Amino acid sequence: MNVAIVFDSSTGRTRTAAEQMAGVVRAAGHECSVQSVQDAGPATVSAADAVCIGSWTEGLFVVLQHATKATMEFIDRLGPLDGKPAAVFCTYKLAVGGMLPKMAARLGERGANVTGQFKSRGAFAAEGFDDWVRSLG
Ligand SMILES: Cc1cc2nc3c(=O)[nH]c(=O)nc-3n(C[C@H](O)[C@H](O)[C@H](O)COP(=O)(O)O)c2cc1C
Repeated sequence: MNVAIVFDSSTGRTRTAAEQMAGVVRAAGHECSVQSVQDAGPATVSAADAVCIGSWTEGLFVVLQHATKATMEFIDRLGPLDGKPAAVFCTYKLAVGGMLPKMAARLGERGANVTGQFKSRGAFAAEGFDDWVRSLG
């Protein structure tokens, strides 16, 4: 399988988390690209067998958390995902509020079958991400 991981990172934690997640995907025998929302091409990402999109958490720490504008705009630029498996993730410091379901719903609007939502309180792959990778087959 060919998995595309795309992230938005300001200070590098989400980038490192995404790279660790790519390591988990590759260790399971899949191919995996990992690129920022600034560098990734929506057409190439849409052509992957599975996609995983992540953002750092932006908000007022305890309320109004959301994915970055660049993350949501990237999701909106994806082509039809036709039921492909997908996941969303974020890194955060305190609380993520409802941002992951919102990211998942937006990716669902592109036709993805969003089967994973992960949050990492640091620059590492979230617990349970390996189960999502296993679910890809
Ligand atoms: C302006 C700003 C707002 C933030 N708001 C939140 C927040 O609402 N909740 C939270 O848990 N972390 C919040 N954070 C912390 C970041 O989401 C967290 O440090 C993240 O891992 C940074 O990822 P990055 O290094 O990839 O940019 C905020 C950080 C900044 C700079």
